[in-house]
Amino acid sequence: MDKPISKIGVFTSGGDAPGMNAAIRAVVRAASYYQKDVYGIMRGYEGMIDNEIVKLGARSVGNILQRGGTILKTARSEAFRTPEGRAKAFANLQKTGIDGLIAIGGDGTFAGLTKFYSEYQLPSICLPGTIDNDLAGTDYTIGYDTATNTVVEAIDKIRDTALSHNRLFFIEVMGRHSGYIAINSGIAGGAVSIIIPEEDTTMEQLFNQLDEGEKTNRKSSLVVVAEGSKLGGAMELAKRFSERNNYFDIKVTILGHLQRGGSPTYFDRVLASKMGIAAVEGLLKGETGVMVGVRNHAIVYNSFESIMGKRHDIDPELIRISKILSI
Ligand code: F6P
Repeated sequence: MDKPISKIGVFTSGGDAPGMNAAIRAVVRAASYYQKDVYGIMRGYEGMIDNEIVKLGARSVGNILQRGGTILKTARSEAFRTPEGRAKAFANLQKTGIDGLIAIGGDGTFAGLTKFYSEYQLPSICLPGTIDNDLAGTDYTIGYDTATNTVVEAIDKIRDTALSHNRLFFIEVMGRHSGYIAINSGIAGGAVSIIIPEEDTTMEQLFNQLDEGEKTNRKSSLVVVAEGSKLGGAMELAKRFSERNNYFDIKVTILGHLQRGGSPTYFDRVLASKMGIAAVEGLLKGETGVMVGVRNHAIVYNSFESIMGKRHDIDPELIRISKILSI
């Protein structure tokens, strides 16, 4: 590294996730601890382009650890996809004197930063912040644990009413390309069937599984489906099944964005705190072009090249046990 980093810029980008505030707090406090200046860049890459950059200090991140959302706001930026947008962003960072960047977000955020880093070589580190848990290079992403607990709580409530009325519910959870929330909330919530984008479940297999319930006198059933399922979402599955079923009374619940809000669990707060500190310490030690991850409880730094375009595969064991339990 040519010269030591003195001014760190931190931002959140893409879909928000519970625990992002805890990560911001950890970054700001670690930077202050090491006597570096730290700036918050508002609305992700949008604020970088519009020069919405604010000075932060240890006290400006008080009382945010337990709050969902992100105090720095977030956005999905189209302008940053253009060379002109990125040039403007770089010029603004230079004006403020920011010489190290910490991004908190998901794969879209990383793709933007990888491009930016290849063009301007500004020392940069990413933190995985997404409820989807779909990023290679880390066992957990910030926000995933909270979102999954939110879903389990909702499933438990739906189960109460499903049982009372002898109903079949199709419950749709988030995950455009990832079945992590679905598979683990489905197991924890006792779903009879879990439909995820990573698996090629056929309509016939789903029908058979549900028919089995009728044969064995199952009174109510819950199917958890990830929004990115290849068979379609909860509405589509309910429609298709209702065309051939006269046993279950069918209902649909789409949990939607409530999965993205709420106070982070202890797990996400601690994960975000560890990762935020690791990002600052990594940057100060010369790590750059990397994403912080946690593998087997230890902090790791993954080069952008080693994770870009890769996904966090679902453990086949989870799929296997979900099928045994739904008998
Ligand atoms: O990536 C996180 C996520 O919540 C996905 O699970 C979901 O498909 C998507 O974001 C929704 O994005 P938006 O809030 O922009 O509609």
